[in-house]
Amino acid sequence: MAGSSSGSCSLLLLVAAAAVLSLPSSFQPTAGFSRVMLNESQFVLQKPYDVPVNERYDPCGGVRRMWVFDTDKPFSTKHPGYPRTEIRVDKVYSSGVWQFEGDVYVPWGTSGASVMQIFGADKPHASTVMLPVYDGQLTYYHNLTMVVADRVYDRWIRLNVVHDVAAANVTVYVDGERRLEVPGHGGTEHYFKFGVYTQGLHNHSHRMEAHWRNVAIYTKPYA
Ligand SMILES: *[C@@H]1O[C@H](CO)[C@@H](O)[C@H](O)[C@H]1NC(C)=O
Ligand SMILES: *[C@@H]1O[C@H](CO)[C@@H](O)[C@H](O)[C@H]1NC(C)=O
Ligand SMILES: *[C@@H]1O[C@H](CO)[C@@H](O)[C@H](O)[C@H]1NC(C)=O
Ligand SMILES: *[C@@H]1O[C@H](CO)[C@@H](O)[C@H](O)[C@H]1NC(C)=O
Repeated sequence: MAGSSSGSCSLLLLVAAAAVLSLPSSFQPTAGFSRVMLNESQFVLQKPYDVPVNERYDPCGGVRRMWVFDTDKPFSTKHPGYPRTEIRVDKVYSSGVWQFEGDVYVPWGTSGASVMQIFGADKPHASTVMLPVYDGQLTYYHNLTMVVADRVYDRWIRLNVVHDVAAANVTVYVDGERRLEVPGHGGTEHYFKFGVYTQGLHNHSHRMEAHWRNVAIYTKPYA
């Protein structure tokens, strides 16, 4: 499951990856869920179409490091959009309760980029949830009063995002603590994405970067 080694891992990254997560032992958001087995080909990278993969993506020792610049091209000439280096988890779901889990590390200075989203919604929405970082805060879309996690720079945080499709509700946990409950946005097909995706209408830094590890998908039937 670990990304292929690239030989270009920075020493800094190895130091960061060694940091130990201290999770509260009391509550596991994945309790009662079953893990969905994924192979590496289901982690589909989207990066600016005119640059080589290794100039925006560095998988190393189980950590997927992704970065993008606000001046970058979209991921496809046929799909105009804001710059992103983002992985689409190629597991589409349309019913049941689904959960995304992963550890994310956002280097100091990254701002105005979504690091995780659930794609799929009824128009005019395209996504069910987006979690961008603004000035060190992880927020719900660009609502700076809906802070999901504070002071996120330069540390690992564990994110669990639970989506009950039929009930159309989403719950976000940070380090095992419930931080957000929001309604879904409808839609019939959903999948998870993680990385960095520029939120073009709002302030962003020139360079946006996020590191992800231990990404896993879980599911369970409706209660
Ligand atoms: C990965 O899993 C997908 C979905 O189950 C499957 O279609 C594909 O053949 C698998 N690829 C490899 C290389 O095992
Ligand atoms: C932002 O969140 C607050 C608190 O939930 C809410 O009252 C407000 O309407 C939201 N703003 C926007 C623009 O959605
Ligand atoms: C989502 O909806 C289900 C089914 O109605 C309910 O059991 C669950 O508590 C809801 N979760 C949230 C976070 O509202
Ligand atoms: C964008 O920057 C302006 C000026 O610094 C600030 O007032 C505004 O709150 C910022 N908006 C967001 C979404 O960060």
